[in-house]
Amino acid sequence: MSGDKSEGRGPSTKAVQAGRREEWTGPVVNPPVWRASTHLYASEADRKAALKSNEDGDFFYGRRGAPTQWALADALTEIEPGAHGTVLYPSGVAAIAGALLSVLKPGDVLLMTDNAYDPTRSMATGLLKRLGVETRFFDPLDQPAYENLFCDKTKAVWFESPGSLTMEVGDVPAFAAIAQDHQAVTLIDNTWASAFGFAALEHGCDITVMSLSKHVGGHSDLMMGSASAGERWYRALRRTSQQLGQVVAPDDAALAARGLRTMKLRLDQATASALEIAQWLEQQPQIASVLCPLLPSHHGHDLWKRDFTGGCGLFSFVLASDLDNASAIVVDALKHFGIGYSWGGFESLALPIFPAEYRSCMAWPPKQIQAGTGHAIRLSIGLEDTQDLIADLAQALSKLDKS
Ligand SMILES: Cc1ncc(COP(=O)(O)O)c(C=O)c1O
Repeated sequence: MSGDKSEGRGPSTKAVQAGRREEWTGPVVNPPVWRASTHLYASEADRKAALKSNEDGDFFYGRRGAPTQWALADALTEIEPGAHGTVLYPSGVAAIAGALLSVLKPGDVLLMTDNAYDPTRSMATGLLKRLGVETRFFDPLDQPAYENLFCDKTKAVWFESPGSLTMEVGDVPAFAAIAQDHQAVTLIDNTWASAFGFAALEHGCDITVMSLSKHVGGHSDLMMGSASAGERWYRALRRTSQQLGQVVAPDDAALAARGLRTMKLRLDQATASALEIAQWLEQQPQIASVLCPLLPSHHGHDLWKRDFTGGCGLFSFVLASDLDNASAIVVDALKHFGIGYSWGGFESLALPIFPAEYRSCMAWPPKQIQAGTGHAIRLSIGLEDTQDLIADLAQALSKLDKS
């Protein structure tokens, strides 16, 4: 259910105002935490009346949420251009499952970008295969090959752009238009850019999914996911999520809503810092390649500039060293970067990555990379001082000179 959308507001204004309906907040600024399993009815007639409606905003039963969850869903709809509604899930992976199960049935063929997040790939090759759905992986940089994969059973296309770990930027509008020509639904994992950086529904996608554990939460202390869509697919998402019994805790919804207020500011800061660090890394002798679409030298930079209005602090780099443990030497020497998975928080992270394990049709290292054996590290740049992070990377990379 979408909120009151007065025109003429920028993304930061929306992030501040979204989801704060007076009937849900009362006199306080953020929607309070409504913990509830039972919703009480004033009369049997009221209970019967409640059975007839199924919208956020209608009290019914705890699994359908209460004002805390409704406010967050409403806020995410409001910041997502073209969305009619948003469904919340207990994690990003649950949102991916909820979205795919809303559009696919046994016998269907799913096309999936080869650089999709690893658990998304595993869902396709595991759960979906078990349910009778065939997945074909495509290279997001090879449009003719992608087009050749379509058959009359192709019902959905899954994108992630930039892709996980290796950060290729696909031409999502062109690929989505081809999907539409084949009456296939286009879904995207838009966690990297968020609605602030890539208006997915306005670029041809039908359903846009985010892990809210990343930028929306922003403080590395909650797990949640969302899927937003226009009216038709929102209804399908909502139906499937209710059939699967999905619900998020009100305490976590309140944390996510709080994170959303400062998300644009955090994203802008992390993006600026990431660009500075990526530019510095490009100049270092220990680096073979920096995989960051924010960089003018990146092969996807023109598409990123054309389609995106922002970025984030997540990018990867490839080491020139051919030592087997090169990435471990670097991350173990870092002092300001934690070693961990769930990116998008206020703190910086570094993670050795092994993309070859998660690719079906894209080569790793790719042909664009001139040197190195493909030992790579993913960085999630947080809100620390950029110069501190650069100094830390410099001392950690220097360990390779001594090895
Ligand atoms: C691109 C991407 N999508 C989805 C997810 C899954 O999100 P969650 O950890 O909230 O399940 C992740 C987590 O790392 C991710 O990197």
